[in-house]
Order: sequence, then C-alpha cells, then structure tokens
Amino acid sequence: MLHAARVLCLLVLLGAATASSGPSFHRCPADFKLVRRGQTISASEARYTEQKRKHVLPDAFKTYLKNVKGTGVKLPKYVEQILQTKSELPTVGISVSGGGYRAALFGAGVLNALDARNSSAAKTGTGGLLQATTHLAGLSGGSWLVTSLAQANFPTIQHLVFGDGKSKDFAGWIPSRDIWTVSTDPAEQAIFAHQVLHEIAAKAKHFPVSVGDAWGRALARHFTNGTTESGFLANTSHGSGILFSDLVKLPTFASHQQPFPIMVANIASEHINGTLFPGGNFVPLNSPMFEFNLFEMSCFDDVLAAHTPMKYLGTTNRSLCATGFDEAMFLSGTSSNLWNEANATSPEVLAAGTANFSVLVNSTYPQSPSLRLDSSNYPNPFHGVAPETFSDSHETILSLIDGGEDGQIMPLQPMLVEDRKVDVIIAVDAPNDDGNNYARGASLIATQERMKIFQRGLAPFPAVPASLDGFAAQNLTSRPTFFGCNAPSPHHSPSSPYNNHHPTPSPPLVVYIPNGAPPRDGSPPLTNTSTFQSTYTAGEMQGMLAQTFDVATQGAVVRGGGLRDREWGACLACAVVERARARVRAKRSGVCETCFARYCWEG
Ligand SMILES: *[C@@H]1O[C@H](CO)[C@@H](O)[C@H](O)[C@H]1NC(C)=O
Ligand SMILES: *[C@@H]1O[C@H](CO)[C@@H](O)[C@H](O)[C@H]1NC(C)=O
Ligand SMILES: *[C@@H]1O[C@H](CO)[C@@H](O)[C@H](O)[C@H]1NC(C)=O
Ligand SMILES: *[C@@H]1O[C@H](CO)[C@@H](O)[C@H](O)[C@H]1NC(C)=O
Ligand SMILES: *[C@@H]1O[C@H](CO)[C@@H](O)[C@H](O)[C@H]1NC(C)=O
Ligand SMILES: *[C@@H]1O[C@H](CO)[C@@H](O)[C@H](O)[C@H]1NC(C)=O
Ligand SMILES: *[C@@H]1O[C@H](CO)[C@@H](O)[C@H](O)[C@H]1NC(C)=O
Ligand SMILES: *[C@@H]1O[C@H](CO)[C@@H](O)[C@H](O)[C@H]1NC(C)=O
Ligand SMILES: *[C@@H]1O[C@H](CO)[C@@H](O)[C@H](O)[C@H]1NC(C)=O
Ligand SMILES: *[C@@H]1O[C@H](CO)[C@@H](O)[C@H](O)[C@H]1NC(C)=O
Repeated sequence: MLHAARVLCLLVLLGAATASSGPSFHRCPADFKLVRRGQTISASEARYTEQKRKHVLPDAFKTYLKNVKGTGVKLPKYVEQILQTKSELPTVGISVSGGGYRAALFGAGVLNALDARNSSAAKTGTGGLLQATTHLAGLSGGSWLVTSLAQANFPTIQHLVFGDGKSKDFAGWIPSRDIWTVSTDPAEQAIFAHQVLHEIAAKAKHFPVSVGDAWGRALARHFTNGTTESGFLANTSHGSGILFSDLVKLPTFASHQQPFPIMVANIASEHINGTLFPGGNFVPLNSPMFEFNLFEMSCFDDVLAAHTPMKYLGTTNRSLCATGFDEAMFLSGTSSNLWNEANATSPEVLAAGTANFSVLVNSTYPQSPSLRLDSSNYPNPFHGVAPETFSDSHETILSLIDGGEDGQIMPLQPMLVEDRKVDVIIAVDAPNDDGNNYARGASLIATQERMKIFQRGLAPFPAVPASLDGFAAQNLTSRPTFFGCNAPSPHHSPSSPYNNHHPTPSPPLVVYIPNGAPPRDGSPPLTNTSTFQSTYTAGEMQGMLAQTFDVATQGAVVRGGGLRDREWGACLACAVVERARARVRAKRSGVCETCFARYCWEG
C-alpha cells in the first residue's frame, strides 16, 4: 500500500535518481508567434510533406507497385501510370483507433502488413504502402503506437514491439509489467511511485501537475526509449525529456521517411452542453477537438481554428517562452487519459483506478483546489482567442482528455483537414463496440454525426451506415470495406459552406479495416482482448500480430475462392489510386471494377 508520506520520505532518500531538467522558461525568440489562426496547416508541415512527396514517395510507390504486381493480378494501366508519375501520386493517411493495448497491437499488426520490410507483407501485395503513407494519426492506445514508432526512429514492428535485442535503451513494450501497478511487491511499487513523482518534480515547479503527468511517465516506460526489462526499476530517466518537437531531428524524419505523426485529444469543458454520442461517454460531439502534430498543437474546428507551436507548448504570452513541456509521452498520455471517466462516480474511484497516483501527485505537489486532477492540463495558449465561439477561451487551463471520449474512437478528423489533401484514409479500428471487444462501426457513425456540426473548412466525410445494425446487416465489420467510392468530384454547390471560389472538395475514400470478427479458419480469437488488459506475454502479442496480419492481408471471403481474396492486394491499390484516377479522368476498369463491386458500400 502506498502512502504519500512514505513516498515523500523516499523522495528525500532517493534524491539521486535521474530525471530530465524539465520544462524551463526563456525569453521568446524575436519572431515568436503564440497563435496562428485559420484552418490551414503550418508552413513546417507543408514543407515536410512536400519534401516527402519529392524525395521519398516516388521510390516508395515504385516498391509498392512492384509488390502489388508480384501477386500476379493484372492491374488496369491507369493504376500503374498513377503510381509511377510524380505529380499524380496519391496522399495516403492512416488512422489508428483507441482501445488500449489491444488497439496498439492491432494497429501495429496492420502497419506490419503494410510494411515493405516485412517479406510476407510484400508477397501479399500490401507491403510498401506504409512507406508511401504521408500522415499517421493515433488516438489513445493508437497514439502509443504512433509515438513509440516515431521516437524509435521507425523500426520494423517486430523490433518496435519486442525490441531488437541490441539497443541498450529500447527493449520493446515490456508488457509483462502492468502500467500503474508494476509490481505486487509493495517495496518495488514504492520505488516506481517515487521515481514517477520525482520525474515530474521539475515540471511541478512551474506548471500544474495532475494524474496526466504520472500517467505519461508510467506509459513512457513501455512506449519510449529509456527502459529495459531488467532495468525497469533502475534510477534512470525513463525517457523523460524525449520531446515531440525534437523527433524531427531523428534520421528517419530528417530524411522524410516517416509518415507525419498526429495524436488527438478531447477537451473536458464545463462550458459545453450537447448531445453525447451513445457510447461516447463524456464529451458531447459539439466539443472542439485538439491535435498534437510534430510542429503544432492545433484545433482545426472552425469554432477555434487556432494553432500554437509544439516546441513552445506551455507558453501563454510572447515575452516568456516555455520549452520542454511537449514531452512525447505526456502528449500520448493526454490522448489516452480517460481517468475523468473514473472520476465520474467519485474521486475515490479515480484514486483506485489510478493506483492512487491522482492522490499522490496532489499530496506531493499540492495543486490549486480548482485544478482538475483527472485530466491532462495545459496552460491555455488560446486564452482570449475566438471568445464568441470557443467555449474555453477565457480559461487559463485547458483540461484535455482521451481523444475517443466523444465517441470518435478513430482519429479521422486530422485526415479531413482540407489542406492535407488526403485522398485515402486507411481507417484501422479496434475499439470495444459490442462488449466482446470487437469493432462494429460506431466510430465511423460518430464521425459522420460530428461532421454535421463541424463542416466548415474540413473535407466532407463519405456516407457510412447510420446505425450499428446497418453495419451488421451487411457484415461490414468482418472484412475490409471501402466508403466513398463514388463520391462526387470537387464541385460547386449552393447549399455547401463552400462558395464559388472554393468548390466543395471530394471526401477522401475510406478503407475501413476493422477488428471485427474471430479468425475465419476457426482458430481461437486472440485480437479481442479487453481494453483494460494491461499485461501481455510475448506469445500473446505475437499471436495478436499474426491474426491482425491476416485481417489486413486476406480481404473478403470470395465465393469459390476460399477464405482469402487473392485479389485483395490489387483491390487495395485500386482504392489507393481512386481519387488520383478521377483527377486524371481515367475510367475505372478491369480488376478495379470487380474490386469496387466487392468492397464498396454505397448506401
Ligand atoms: C536507486 O538509488 C538509490 C539511492 O539513490 C538506491 O538506494 C537504490 O538502490 C537505487 N535503485 C536501483 C534499482 O538501483
Ligand atoms: C530511440 O532508440 C532508437 C534505437 O536505439 C534510436 O534509433 C532512436 O534515435 C532513439 N530515439 C530517441 C528519441 O532518442
Ligand atoms: C449546461 O446545462 C446546465 C444544466 O442544465 C446549466 O446549468 C448550464 O448553465 C449549461 N451550460 C451552458 C454553457 O450552456
Ligand atoms: C508571461 O508568462 C509567464 C509564464 O507564465 C508569466 O510569468 C509572465 O508574468 C507573463 N507575462 C506577461 C506580460 O503576461
Ligand atoms: C489507495 O489508498 C487507499 C488509502 O490509503 C487504499 O485503501 C487503497 O487500497 C489504495 N489503492 C490502491 C490502488 O493502491
Ligand atoms: C489538492 O491539494 C490541495 C492542497 O492540499 C487541496 O486543497 C485540494 O482539495 C486537493 N485536490 C483534490 C481533488 O483532492
Ligand atoms: C472530477 O470531475 C469534476 C467534473 O466532472 C471536476 O470538477 C473535478 O475537479 C474532478 N475531480 C478531480 C479529482 O479531478
Ligand atoms: C472474444 O470474442 C469471443 C467470440 O468470438 C468471445 O467469446 C470472447 O469472450 C471475446 N473475448 C473478450 C475478452 O471479450
Ligand atoms: C454475413 O455473414 C453471415 C455468416 O458469416 C452469413 O450467413 C450472411 O449471409 C452474411 N450476410 C451478408 C449480407 O453478406
Ligand atoms: C512479418 O510479419 C509476420 C506476422 O506478424 C511476422 O511473423 C514476421 O516476423 C514479420 N517479418 C519481419 C521481417 O518483420
């Protein structure tokens, strides 16, 4: 059992433990801009994707095309032409849902199936798409994957999840230890608690701290560099000080090989009343959403439409600038902070759910009684911005929480930012929609509903069934499904929020890859583990990765074709080039016609 007094005492005794120096304040640079307004992306992001398009995508799509052709399925000429023409290359985004470790592992399994470096993936004609992907968004458990992959310098999934056995400070996800309760030995657990509290000491000097900070530190031991299995309780910094804004310096970012990483969070606002999406428990759909990307923390919703530099997160004016606030795992911990749900009943439930870290943080670093301890707290860089439409404009603190709490468990909205010009979203969905820890389409429905509220300045979202029954009736979660196949080309419409100078863009095509059914061959299902299962054996993880590999590479059951669709690789390629096909005004033909008949949902 942990007591604050004991931990405080340990803090004094074990003062020698290492931690980063934490955030600090400096005079702001001369050209510092705290807030950028509008619904466009940053110049830095534009430069990153432009460089990637120029120097990485041509070869990446060449390799991908070679793999698709390697399956022996004959492709229409336009598919090959598009994938070999620099100016026509499609913009691909991948969105990985929440759902704890299950979602992180399912997402990892799908990325593995799209990775050119995996020879089995290359053989099925899906490998190579990951290298050709421009944006990668993650939410909650999906954000653990995104952060982990980005900060580890884009290793293969096998190396990411299990470690490569060589790296001294990254040993894989170490899922043998629970995230909050790392040991049943009270002395060991006390050492862990002490270390976590110690690691946030420097931050606590300048900023409010809450359970969100402890959560970030606890997660860092699994998903960022700095912890090994044997050194789990060692007095090292456990990756504190790995900043999101610094990742751009890693070799695979410097060479633009990595997809542009994005994470999503919701706001816990006391000023928003609205309809809760069924199953989206705490945040109404009319709440603005926030994203963390390599360069900015952004809100692309028209009610705020504002951005602040990632590197200077924690800053609220233009004279004194904070740096070091944007610790990668604090941000990912924000995207996965659902501890406010535990507090919905009472602070005692919150304390129990967080192994008392909500209490320990506050007793070690006493906070203002008005501070929420259940959320991840950010000094509000948007103070005074959009006071008419942004609910929390007058708040000094933004209390941010799990990005899926509005019911949108997949981070699709970042891919609908018009300026990103995403042609196709690989929508990787592993929530618990049905009590059996399978996806049933709820996330897509939530985004469809939200897009009725937040439309201006975002690309349209393709139509999806209006209800879970609609998904079930057509088995849309037991195989991949394409949405938006026959969407209109960019057009002028008097009823749209766009005008004549700015035609309504086409929606991206959505390739939905759900974790929605047990294996077809009747083997025991491994991918629908509970969201709250927080320890795994290496065998369980390998089993999940293997079954997910099948989900992402087998396609649909084809009449007379057995359990796998041997054309799936080609079908995926048809979806990938579909918007580019419309741009070059080619006619859909050949295998792409049969693929679309098989995989498209058209209402
Ligand atoms: C951590 O440091 C303290 C002294 O500062 C020491 O007593 C303790 O044994 C160390 N723990 C480990 C696992 O090395
Ligand atoms: C994390 O470790 C990997 C493998 O050793 C290394 O390539 C990468 O640069 C490290 N990342 C950071 C942020 O230090
Ligand atoms: C939200 O609803 C509550 C209860 O009906 C009401 O007291 C409060 O003023 C409303 N807040 C806003 C921002 O509309
Ligand atoms: C700017 O922010 C810093 C840090 O929060 C604060 O100490 C300082 O008083 C602020 N300055 C102004 C002019 O508001
Ligand atoms: C939290 O602290 C209370 C009171 O000390 C204790 O009863 C409870 O078991 C603790 N919970 C956990 C998860 O450690
Ligand atoms: C946090 O600590 C402060 C100072 O001791 C106290 O006033 C406040 O009530 C505490 N907050 C919670 C939620 O317990
Ligand atoms: C629990 O949630 C309420 C709002 O729902 C909030 O006011 C309160 O600060 C939270 N408690 C803690 C301990 O964070
Ligand atoms: C996984 O799905 C099977 C049905 O396919 C169900 O029996 C089992 O309880 C599910 N497991 C979990 C942890 O939900
Ligand atoms: C859905 O799947 C079930 C069982 O696999 C099958 O019996 C049914 O015909 C399928 N329905 C449709 C519309 O494909
Ligand atoms: C490719 O993926 C499969 C399925 O997860 C895995 O067993 C295999 O080790 C991977 N190969 C490489 C080279 O990563």
